[in-house]
Amino acid sequence: MKVLLIGSGGREHALAWALSASPLLTKLYCAPGNPGIAEAAECVAIPATDHDGLLAFAREKGIDFVVIGPEQPLVDGLWDKLEAAGIKTLGPSKAGAVLEGSKGYVKDLCAENAIPTAAYRRFDAPGPAKDFAATLGLPVVIKADGLAAGKGVVIAQTREEADAAIDAVGGDMVIEEYLDGEEASFFVLSDGEHVVPLGGAQDHKRAFDGDKGPNTGGMGAYSPAPIFDEAVAAKTMDKIVRPTIAAMARRGTPYMGVLFAGLMIKDGEPKLIEYNCRFGDPECQVLMMRLKSDLLTALLAARDRQLAHLDLRWSDDAALTVVMATRGYPGDYAKGSAISGLDAASEHARIFHAGTALKAGHIVANGGRVLAVTATAPTIADAQRRAYEAVDKIDWPEGFCRRDIGYRALKR
Ligand code: AMP
Ligand code: GLY
Repeated sequence: MKVLLIGSGGREHALAWALSASPLLTKLYCAPGNPGIAEAAECVAIPATDHDGLLAFAREKGIDFVVIGPEQPLVDGLWDKLEAAGIKTLGPSKAGAVLEGSKGYVKDLCAENAIPTAAYRRFDAPGPAKDFAATLGLPVVIKADGLAAGKGVVIAQTREEADAAIDAVGGDMVIEEYLDGEEASFFVLSDGEHVVPLGGAQDHKRAFDGDKGPNTGGMGAYSPAPIFDEAVAAKTMDKIVRPTIAAMARRGTPYMGVLFAGLMIKDGEPKLIEYNCRFGDPECQVLMMRLKSDLLTALLAARDRQLAHLDLRWSDDAALTVVMATRGYPGDYAKGSAISGLDAASEHARIFHAGTALKAGHIVANGGRVLAVTATAPTIADAQRRAYEAVDKIDWPEGFCRRDIGYRALKR
């Protein structure tokens, strides 16, 4: 089976690595990929935004199945385009990807189906939004409605901050109550009707140790997450995920693909913060390290509406990943700094490339998040130790990482 994977980050390197182990696979392509992905797939220089180019490539090579890593092509309808051309693709469809594309849509869906989430109201103008925000306690949460790559959320600590954030959004927005608790991520695979859990993880969104500094795409993750125990997982499936999948089916827009639920957990009760229509990055890296079953079989079953017959096996080991980023990230940073020591580091951990390039045969940094150094061990503590042993073998003066990935789990 010929598979085309779309994307170029650490998530896609982890997917490429897992897909390349499949007995069903005859050839793996990745568009556009990166030098790490090139070890597992043939990379082709087509950007994820070039839907016509991707379709033409898939036709030319006779691609049997397409897996889309990032949210933007899904929200932009790449699934619909490829499927309309007869090319099997892991969703969701454009209509399904609204679960990530519109925060207001998700909040209304939660309200209609009694799914636990923060109290909220939707607005399309600043005046009434400010009046409503003033009725909530502090902090108060302001969310722009569309896709914002994690930048559309403000947690305002004062009334002035709240008003300024509301003015900055200007148009469609959600104002909601602040939820207290501990965050976790939960992943499932859906075929539109049946749902198979893919496990829980926790990431670290702030740039610096102790959860200080600006928000990032994620500086590290681990799985399993002790706070996301079996009881919480069962509640999340029953009260949040299954009602959502059922509601999407009733609306005539069945959700097929990976669904990522961002949760706030307090006293063992999960509430939905947000949905994403894809794997998390770097959560995908730790999930793929723990998956013992064949990923390609599972993703195909979701596409073919066969999940009722699928049973996935997971390692009991813990996996932990440390993201190495270029100094300056998530603000301005330089590209092109040289990285060495990757071979020595690979003896301790698996190094997924997130933002690298090849320059004169040498690996250089080519993005904000650059490497995801990922280790497994029977305990989170041991996985953490192994991951940092590998990090310490990497010689990259222009890079930085957090030194405390996993601290919440280790504190428990
Ligand atoms: P989102 O872009 O929806 O993932 O939000 C980014 C981050 O803001 C989340 O990961 C949470 O840390 C935080 N957040 C969003 N909504 C809330 C809320 N209602 N209460 C507390 N924290 C929130
Ligand atoms: N690590 C969070 C995300 O992928 O959205």
